[in-house]
Parts: sequence; structure tokens; C-alpha cells
Amino acid sequence: MKDAAPTTVYLEDYKPFGYVVDSVHLTFDLAPNATRVKSRIEFSPNPEAADRRFWLDGEKLKLISAKIDGKDVNPVCTAEGLSCDAPDAPFVWEAEVEIDPAGNTALEGLYMSNGMYCTQCEAQGFRKITYYPDRPDVMSVFTVRINGDLPVLLSNGNPGKSGDGWAEWHDPWPKPAYLFALVAGDLVAHSDSFTTIGGRDVALNLYVRPGDEGKCAFGMEALKKSMKWDEDVYGREYDLDIFNIVAVDDFNMGAMENKGLNIFNSSAVLASPETSTDMNFERIEAIIAHEYFHNWTGNRITCRDWFQLCLKEGLTVYRDSQFTSDMRSAPVKRISDTIDLRARQFPEDNGPLAHPVRPDSFQEINNFYTATVYEKGAEVIGMLKRLVGDAAYAEALDLYFARHDGQACTIEDWLKVFEDVTGRDLTQFKRWYSQAGTPRVKVTEHWENGTYRLTFTQSTPASVASPAPQPQVIPIAVGLIGPNGDEVVETTLLELTEETQAFEFSGLSAKPVPSILRGFSAPVILERETTTAERAFLLAHDTDPFNRWEAGRTLALETLNDMTLGGAAPNAAYLDGIVAVTRDSSLDPAYRALMLGLPSQSELAAAQAESGHTPDPMAIWNACETLRQTLAEKLQDDLPGLMAEMRVEAPYRPDAEQSGKRSLGGALLSLLTRLDGGEEAARQYAEADNMTLQLSALSCLVRAGKGEDALRQFYEQWQGDRLVIDKWFMLQVLNAAPDRAVGAAKALTEHKDFNWKNPNRFRATLGALTGNHAGFHAADGAGYALLADWLIKLDPVNPQTAARMCTAFQTWKRYDAERQGQMRAALERIAAQPDLSRDTTEMVSRILGA
Ligand code: PHE
Ligand code: ZN
Repeated sequence: MKDAAPTTVYLEDYKPFGYVVDSVHLTFDLAPNATRVKSRIEFSPNPEAADRRFWLDGEKLKLISAKIDGKDVNPVCTAEGLSCDAPDAPFVWEAEVEIDPAGNTALEGLYMSNGMYCTQCEAQGFRKITYYPDRPDVMSVFTVRINGDLPVLLSNGNPGKSGDGWAEWHDPWPKPAYLFALVAGDLVAHSDSFTTIGGRDVALNLYVRPGDEGKCAFGMEALKKSMKWDEDVYGREYDLDIFNIVAVDDFNMGAMENKGLNIFNSSAVLASPETSTDMNFERIEAIIAHEYFHNWTGNRITCRDWFQLCLKEGLTVYRDSQFTSDMRSAPVKRISDTIDLRARQFPEDNGPLAHPVRPDSFQEINNFYTATVYEKGAEVIGMLKRLVGDAAYAEALDLYFARHDGQACTIEDWLKVFEDVTGRDLTQFKRWYSQAGTPRVKVTEHWENGTYRLTFTQSTPASVASPAPQPQVIPIAVGLIGPNGDEVVETTLLELTEETQAFEFSGLSAKPVPSILRGFSAPVILERETTTAERAFLLAHDTDPFNRWEAGRTLALETLNDMTLGGAAPNAAYLDGIVAVTRDSSLDPAYRALMLGLPSQSELAAAQAESGHTPDPMAIWNACETLRQTLAEKLQDDLPGLMAEMRVEAPYRPDAEQSGKRSLGGALLSLLTRLDGGEEAARQYAEADNMTLQLSALSCLVRAGKGEDALRQFYEQWQGDRLVIDKWFMLQVLNAAPDRAVGAAKALTEHKDFNWKNPNRFRATLGALTGNHAGFHAADGAGYALLADWLIKLDPVNPQTAARMCTAFQTWKRYDAERQGQMRAALERIAAQPDLSRDTTEMVSRILGA
């Protein structure tokens, strides 16, 4: 059925639902193509609502019967739901519908993955299961009975009675429908238990397909660590007798926090040393924590409407980043998060898809699960904490949990607890939630008679979402370093609130070097004209690990710009500084590995476009190659010794210490491969006994154009493991030379294992192409055309994933007229498809600025 014409939903139109739901009983009779869902729902009039119209959301449902208080009714049904005359008094609604899980390729609602039934209801998937007020402010207690001929039958809450072919579940905690979940399949459990701080025993299960039992231990440990951490740091105790996690292969996102029954993309939970990289382990630990933390920030306290998505997501991302900082290295985590923010959120915030952390309108809410809502949303919380201090933050959070437990809340509720605890007026701070765009902060300095003055000017470019941005509250952490490298003023938090504002430091004996925006204290773009010598000084001496790294990154950016735009040679100050850091064994290897990284080619393109140039993807690629080659030559004599130091003899552990060594080892190997033609990489590949080493060696070989044999061997070794084969698809495209990337991607789409309906495989192939900057932006437009072809094919099958991948085109206005024309043509070709989904229609029209 064709989606109805897109309509826009506005935050300001919010109205409570006319009824409250007192209880929900659901019975599922599972069958692949004809599952029957019976619902029995108790409604009563909502005293808070003026409008008593009885409307239930429902999509792709076949209505078998409907009753109110036991009597048949004849609702008016549309493609989006039904309306019906209903009493202005408590009543019972009973309905039976039929749905087709096996035919559900969109992976939203009840669907099937490898013979297993599973659900995805956030944001609006429950309406594909039965008729219901499918909105987060309608919370109720659910009781579920599943009838199905499968060994494992799961739903939310605590288990009730069960027998052969049936099971009952009861969730005592009122919840919105988006947190509903059901799983039925032939699964095995990896089980454990956790005793809460209050002494309650919680049964823990990680359910996987037979064969995956050996990939559960790490996820289970991560879950127990998360439960403990949330008790220790936030005072949050788990609240059911059981906590289940299920791994599924077909999933649009990373994972989902359904109450008591988290559902995970198998790539976000299954891990073993042989099949997973250190990066996989770290990501899994973070996602397990994220979903678990949602139990309080999202589930116990949920969102009033989908405009408030950042209320749960920004906060939960912030909490999981605190967890990772505590479990691993705080500076490394901060730098990694900043790299990620710049790579994914800045382009969004500075392009046609810009939207506030709390958007005020949307057509398809699935399109707003964005880096802005999640990652910038988390940055906003980090700023709030910096501004009020750790103690007030803790007090405000306690008040938030005490005051709003069991409620569906707004950003206003969230900010109010901070205002009540601190007495601070957060009106101006709130602009972080309502204004789109990344603020630019320009800094100038003045030195006179022992007084050092920094003057800041902020401005945010106007966008469709925010035509007239106002000054924001920007916390800027600053430290001052004396000429001998000693810190003369330790980290101080400046609060920039005006458009232009000066801050003075007096009593200094010499002109200091400023270290500004320490720890990336605000998600802004800092603009400061200074000398290469000063940047090199900070790279050598800054006591703030983030800014020390940032000094290196800025030097890299500047030298790459000079190389690309002016044909300059690599900057010696950059090279010397990085060589010194790489050799410095007092520094954490993980940190040194980050120092060796270059800004992404897409960031370079963004920076060049911002300074009025037209980026040339091939020129950028060439500059990066030259810089790396030069660096490799500079480090030539150090490489063997350093690499030996990074070798790990102990049994594999995916912890910060070992993975830091492997990460620096991998960075060094890729430099060495430029010098030895792949000899060392081939040796490491042959000897590798874990995926991190195997994959880093294989990537080096592919990049050197010497990967053919190893690629064949890798495929043969791992063809039974779909998660490893995803890596095999991805690495070939990511590491292909620019002139071969489109061809590599195209060939892989013709491979027998290219199951394009599986989102992981699709992303591993076409997503990887968009990550190969110069390859995707090939001058003949073949990259754009290939992506468009596949998005057109995917859209009718899985609109959510198709729409999300349209973001690859969001930067189209950065490039030359030819490429702009090709990208516009690709977008217009997508837009012209008959029956294009609401999801993709909205994305394409926003990107085109239509
Ligand atoms: N709420 C999930 C999370 O952040 C993300 C998600 C959204 C998953 C929509 C599926 C669908 O953890
Ligand atoms: Zn989340």
C-alpha cells in the first residue's frame, strides 16, 4: 500500500490523548504469514484532555473484529488507523487483527529474521502490530500471552505461567507502546545473574541462535558492569526479576531498550577474540551499557512526544560515554567522541539536514534518530554539567528521578530540575535545544603589562531550521602555558554568553600561550589565527591531553590544506611534533595512535569549502597519501622497535591496555607497509590469532594492492560467519584506491553473499563506498549513480535504512558544479520513483532544499 501524502507534525500542536489506558492484554497466535493478535484494552477518559475523539493508530493491519464493552463496533478505517464512537466513560476495547511477519521486510513491527519472530516498535512500529494510541505519553501495564510452536517465547517484564507452545509475561511497570517487545525462536541462552544493591537477584540471559553461544561472554560481563556502574554512579537499581537480551541478524539500528527485553543487532552484542576487533568489543560494551541505562533514562522516565527524543537519547549517550571513560581511558574516549562528532554531526549541523537537538517539526520521525539528537544532545548535557558543577549535576539528577519517575517528560521538565537545584536561569542555555547550526567562536588575544586578554566572538550560520540564531551560553575551558612549557593558569571555565566578550588574566610574568576549549568543552568550531610555532609548542607541552591532540590535528589540517591548495610540501613542525609524540613511551599507546591519525578527507573537504575553496577529492587524497608517506619515511628507523614494543604476549583481552597497544601497532604497520611493500603485513596476517591483528594486516595488504591471496583465504576461513563476512565486504571497499572503489563495491553487490535485504550487509558494502571519500566522489559520478541505484532498490523493501543512507548526499553543495550536478541528478532520480517512501521522500527533499 502506498504511504499517504506526507504531512508535517509540529511540536507546538501537542495535545494529550483523550483517554488513558488502564491496562493492555495481548494474545499472539504466531504464524509466519498470518499471525493473529487479540487485544483487550481498558480505556478511561483522560481528565487532562479536552478532545475525546477516539483514534487508534494502525498500519498494514487486517481488522478481523472490534468490540467495545463486548458489543461489535464498526470503526472507520484508513491506511493510518481507525476512529470509532466511544463512551465518555471507562470502557473495554477488544480487537483482533491479522499481520504478516514473514512479509515484513521493513524490520519495523513484528517481523522475522532467520526463522525467529522479533519486534521493533520504536518509534511508531507498535501500530503495525495492533490498533493502539501509539504515542509515548500513553503509558500502561502490559500482559502478554504468546502461542507459538517455538522453544523460546519472550516478552517484556517478568515471566508468568508457561507450557508447551505458550508463555505469559507481565510487565508491572507502565510503559509506552514503543517499548513493547516480543521474541519467539529456536534460541539458546547464555545465563548469569546479578544481585542488586538492594539485594534482589536478577536473572540475566543473552539469547542467541545455536552456534553463537561462544560469542556471549563479553556482552554478559558488560551488562553486569553496567548494572553495577548505574548503581554506584547514578544510584539506579534494576527493577524486574529478569533482564533478557536477544541478538538478531536483521536489524535497522544498533539495539533497542525494550523494557526487560533488549533486542540487539547481532553486530552490537556478539563477540569473540577470533571474530571481533578491539573496536567491536569497545562498541559492544558501550551499546550494552547504553541500552541498559535506558531503563531509567527512557523507560522509567520517558518522552512526552517524539520531539523530546533527546531527553532520553542525549542523556543516555552522555551516561554511556561517562561509563566508557570510567572503564577505559577518559582522554582517549573524549578524543574519539570528538572525532565522531566532527565526522557525523558537524556535516549535519552545517548542511541542508540541520535541525535543532529538539526539532520542532518532522514528517517521518525515523529520520530524526540523528547525530544531532544523540551526540550533540549528549554534548549539551556535558556543557550543562560543566556549567553547574559535578555536585549540582548529581543533585539535579536525583531530583529528576524522584520527581518524574513514571512520567512522560519534556526538555522543560529536564531543565527545571537544574534551575530548581542551582537557582540558575537556563533560558539562554535552552537555545542549545532550539537552535540548529554549529557556533563558530573566533578568538583574539592582547598582551600588555602582565595582563593577558582573550576576546571571543560567537556566531552561528543561519540555516533553514534556524534563520536568525542568537548568542548561546558557551562554556570555554582555558588554561595558560608559560614560555618554558609550565602551566601558569590551570584550567578555568569561562562562560561566553554575549556575542563578543573579553576575559582577562593578570599578574603574569610573560606572555603565555593559551590552550583554549580544553577537553572540547563545547561543540563549537574554534577559529584562531596563530603561528605554526605556537601550535607545535602546544603539541609538545599542553598539559590538557585533549588539546595536545587537538594541536596536532590542527597542524595536520593546516598542512594538508596548504599541500592541497598551494602545492606546499609537508610541514616540518607537524612531522617533527608527531614523530616526537610517537616515540614518547611515557604516553598511552592508544593516545599516540590517535595522534598518528589524520583528519578525515571529508572533514578536509568541509574545511576547504568553509574557507571559500572548492574541494577536489583526488587532490585531498593525494595530499593525505604524501603526508603519510613522508611520515613513514621520517619514522623509518623507529618502526621495528616501536612495533616490537606494541606486541602483546599475554592471552588476548579486549581491555584498554592491550587494545591501545594493538591500535598503535596497527597504525605503525600501515606506515611500514608503505616502505616494505607489505612484507610485514603479510607476516602479521599469517600469524594473527585474533581478528584485530588479522584485519589490520589485511587492510594494509589491500591498501598496498597486495591483498588478493589474503582476501581469498579470509573468505574461505570465515564464510560461515556472517559478521566477519560483513567486515570482508567493508574492508575491500574502504581500502580500495579511489579509482577502484566504485568497481569494488559494484563487484561485491554481485557476490552471492550480498544479501542486500540485510541492513548490515547493505551498509558494509554501499555504506563503505560513501566512507571512501575520493572513491565515492569519483569525477565521472559513478559512485553517486551506484548508490542511487541501490537506494531505489532498497526503498520499497526497507525505507528506514534507505532514507538514512541518503545522508551521503547531504554535502553535495560543497563540491564543483559538475559533481553538484551529478549528485542532484542522483537525488532527483530517487525522488522521481513512484511510491517512494515517506522516509526517503522527506530526506531527499530536505537535502535538495526543496
Ligand atoms: N532507541 C534505540 C537506542 O538508542 C535506537 C533505536 C531507534 C533502535 C529506533 C531502533 C529503532 O538505543
Ligand atoms: Zn538510545
